[in-house]
Amino acid sequence: MPSSTYDKPDYWSKKAFSEGYPARSVYKLQEMDDKFALIKPHFRVLDLGAAPGSWTTFVLRKLGEAGQVTAIDLSPLSTDVKGNNLSFFQGDLYAPAIRAQALKLGPYDLVICDAAPATTGNRTVDTARSSGLVELAIFYAEQMLKTGGNFVVKVFQGGGEQEHLKKMRTMFTTARGFKPEACRTESFETYLVGLKKK
Ligand SMILES: C[S@@+](CC[C@H](N)C(=O)[O-])C[C@H]1O[C@@H](n2cnc3c(N)ncnc32)[C@H](O)[C@@H]1O
Repeated sequence: MPSSTYDKPDYWSKKAFSEGYPARSVYKLQEMDDKFALIKPHFRVLDLGAAPGSWTTFVLRKLGEAGQVTAIDLSPLSTDVKGNNLSFFQGDLYAPAIRAQALKLGPYDLVICDAAPATTGNRTVDTARSSGLVELAIFYAEQMLKTGGNFVVKVFQGGGEQEHLKKMRTMFTTARGFKPEACRTESFETYLVGLKKK
């Protein structure tokens, strides 16, 4: 018998598959979009840590032809994630050349970051690496998000959320934590949301 929800396809994974999304993580973005009205049809969106591409697919479906998505990941997107208005760059978010590509296609109305480090199982190591990715995503948002733009970033709980929110409150009219119901119950990930860049 599977010992945890990580071992078996659960309700959210089956739903994602039947709706044409490569991963269940799409429902976390959907919940945040429902709550914070993040995505508008004409938007230019930067998706950091995008593979296999369910967030990218969700955004592309909401944008139609009017908007643009720039997606970045170390790994390729799933082969069926494509669109005339999608630019994908495979590489490391820390690499200056990747940041330059993202910069060229900006500025953006929305920056979303679901990037997660490869986990070791050591909570201290994993949360520290997650915290580093949050700082990096905030740096992208500082450089590339339009005034009035919104920002979402994943963080492992214990990865300095209060410090990150403190910084985000200097950049955004509102900044808060949000844990979508679609997060696995045993997961220690959560999200930070910044609304209306100053
Ligand atoms: C949870 S997955 C993202 C799922 C995605 N939002 C979706 O809905 O399909 C996390 C991703 O972060 C990426 N990642 C982690 N560190 C990265 C880095 N330094 N540069 C680029 N991508 C990174 C991983 O390769 C992985 O694909």
